[in-house]
Amino acid sequence: MLPDFSLFPEQASTFAGRVDALFLFILGVTVFFSLLVALFMVYFAIKYRRRSEDQLPPRITSAPRMEMVWLVFLLGLFLTIFCWGAWSYFSMIRPPDDALEVYVVGKQWMWKVQHPDGQREINELHIPVGKPVKLLMTSEDVIHDFYVPAFRAKQDVVPGRYTTMWFQATKPGRFHLFCAEYCGTEHSRMGGWIVVMERADYDEWLSQRADLSMAQRGRQLFLKKRCITCHNRENQRGPLLENLYLKTVPLEGGGSAVADDNYLAESIRNPKAKIVAGFRPIMPPFAPDGLDDAELQDLIAFIKSLKEGQTPTRNEDTPPPEAP
Ligand code: CUA
Repeated sequence: MLPDFSLFPEQASTFAGRVDALFLFILGVTVFFSLLVALFMVYFAIKYRRRSEDQLPPRITSAPRMEMVWLVFLLGLFLTIFCWGAWSYFSMIRPPDDALEVYVVGKQWMWKVQHPDGQREINELHIPVGKPVKLLMTSEDVIHDFYVPAFRAKQDVVPGRYTTMWFQATKPGRFHLFCAEYCGTEHSRMGGWIVVMERADYDEWLSQRADLSMAQRGRQLFLKKRCITCHNRENQRGPLLENLYLKTVPLEGGGSAVADDNYLAESIRNPKAKIVAGFRPIMPPFAPDGLDDAELQDLIAFIKSLKEGQTPTRNEDTPPPEAP
């Protein structure tokens, strides 16, 4: 009748056994004491029932030894549950240093995923078996919650900040992903699959998908956002960006700066902060609503990859600018 019915979801991560063991322990303790109390209630109700109208029970004021034993036993029991839970919790919030980092963005009503090499997917996350995976998650709109029952892993995804979670899959397969925070009309449909693959299959999957790296996406943005209008070989209204990364740049008004990631990010977000010697401060700033953080990263990756003679030409077929 219920072929898929099971009391527990499949166990597919290193956390699963631990979480289930603690859960079963608490369940066992609860069931045991509930039954014990219920049985004693029935037993005592019969054994000490009133047998005649004038029967009065003896008055018992205290039983210190019994109370002491009971208190110490309860304290020990609760401390066991507390320490067990705390130990599990700490191992679940601290990702190992060698974890694979994957970016996740939740929005009404889908999960967007980006791998380090630029692979993107929606409502699916492909990961290798036996390797720790760390998710860096944020939301574009409201609070969502990334929940994979088979991994016993669950974490809120909040707009305006990054939350992290990590897990290590123990077997290949497809495992359900849910949104576990009510987030609007289609909340119940906001889900997908975690696809756990053998290492070789995963590497092949990555290589098949690696058509556009972050730098290649950055190049598209460079054209689309019209950076090319000034940063080109023809009119050079802005500095040429070839071989720029980690070079020392002379600044207007004296001084210099090293063109590292922070400098590049600042020069895009707030171009007037440092003006390169010989140029005028004509570049408009790119705020996050015109260029989000992922795009900024792509753009920086492109500039870092730009070598001698690789600047696109101005008449290159550019994609149309975004609608305002
Ligand atoms: Cu997103 Cu519920």
